[in-house]
Amino acid sequence: MSVLDIRRAGDPVLKTKAQPVAKVTKPVRQLLDNMVQTMREADGVGLAAPQVGVSLRVIVVDVGDGLIELINPELIETEGCETSTEGCLSVPGYYGEVERFAQVTVTGLDRKGNLQKIACDGLLARAMQHEIDHLEGVLFIERAQSLHKEIKE
Ligand code: NI
Repeated sequence: MSVLDIRRAGDPVLKTKAQPVAKVTKPVRQLLDNMVQTMREADGVGLAAPQVGVSLRVIVVDVGDGLIELINPELIETEGCETSTEGCLSVPGYYGEVERFAQVTVTGLDRKGNLQKIACDGLLARAMQHEIDHLEGVLFIERAQSLHKEIKE
């Protein structure tokens, strides 16, 4: 496993629509392993493959309730809306208020290629939507109603 470089806003890969994974192969599982390690090292709650320069529809999320790895994730149900603060490892130092669906159901494949269906709300629902946005080439700063720079003392 290795920690990968995280691409920053301005990198064209972050503006590119990512391609679906045709088959869950060993290289895809290695990508997942590296993405998890990179997310943990950066102390993030989610990471999408384009953020490590790979334009594939792969995300990892861990908001503190356990790791979720999804290949070809899709939002299949949405309900309500909620505005809260978000940040992104590709936009370090910035935070913004973003409106998202309050509850979502997401489908996708796990690392064994089995279909998963995950109903979520709160921070997990937000993280899922944020990571799926990355697969469409969308950054939270494009959705944010306001953007603040973190002041370092
Ligand atoms: Ni992000």
